[in-house]
Amino acid sequence: MIRVLFNKKGGVGKSSLTVNLAAISASKGFRTLIIDLDTQCNSTAYLDALATPEESTIADLFEQTITFHLHRRAAIEYCKTTQVDNLFIIPGAQRLNELESELHSRHKIYKLREALESMSKDFDHIYIDTAPALNFYSLSALIASDRCLIPIDCDDFARQGLYSLQQKIAEIKEDHNPKLEIEGIIANQFMTNANLPKQIINELIAEGYPVLNEYISQSVKMRESHQAKKPLITFAPKHKLSLSLLAIFDLLENGN
Ligand SMILES: Nc1ncnc2c1ncn2[C@@H]1O[C@H](COP(=O)(O)OP(=O)(O)OP(=O)(O)O)[C@@H](O)[C@H]1O
Ligand SMILES: [Mg+2]
Repeated sequence: MIRVLFNKKGGVGKSSLTVNLAAISASKGFRTLIIDLDTQCNSTAYLDALATPEESTIADLFEQTITFHLHRRAAIEYCKTTQVDNLFIIPGAQRLNELESELHSRHKIYKLREALESMSKDFDHIYIDTAPALNFYSLSALIASDRCLIPIDCDDFARQGLYSLQQKIAEIKEDHNPKLEIEGIIANQFMTNANLPKQIINELIAEGYPVLNEYISQSVKMRESHQAKKPLITFAPKHKLSLSLLAIFDLLENGN
């Protein structure tokens, strides 16, 4: 199953959830791959997997599609092992910025899908982290994915962006990727003691949005795990954030 974590709004938890859900998937024995499509490289840094000069990144994989090579490298050769067993990553790179306009003008929008299809036997689950923008790369990811997960930070701006996001995803489904579904909206940084987040979630549910029935609370543990460069499942396996993330993984695995 290929999942993209996407929201045009920044700072809602796309990278945090990509890495943590993927690490849980790997810890359960699934061969799991993360693709970091954001020039900020937050998921790559979270896993302490920033590429060294001699290692390849997702930018190299894309670049190969616009330059001539006698021997084109297979996508699997770009996957790097991580500190977590069964978890691999194609690291992000700032150079994605420089390549974007040429990739766009040369219509390379299906290249990520082809790359992931070539690895369909190598991985049980693929999670794609995206930038907070509908750019060439997030569009490529939505075209390559089976499911889209939308994290929100439970504030009013998040709700305002959802309608246009839903329309855009419907358009991509119709034009490029009939199998694409919004699998769930994930309420992140949920504050149990405040009324507004609850109210916003209830309104979204009433409007028919598929909000997953497990909310991830706001906790400094998330930032601590970033700083330690360890996913929560290894950093604090019994913490309530880890338990919520496990519950979300199970909801996704078993159908919600
Ligand atoms: N549940 C949480 N509790 C506390 N802090 C959180 C939680 N989830 C995310 N954060 C913090 O919020 C910030 C944004 O999270 P993250 O980088 O995962 O979001 P993002 O959507 O990937 O951001 P961007 O749009 O910039 O890529 C980070 O500092 C992260 O540590
Ligand atoms: Mg991010």
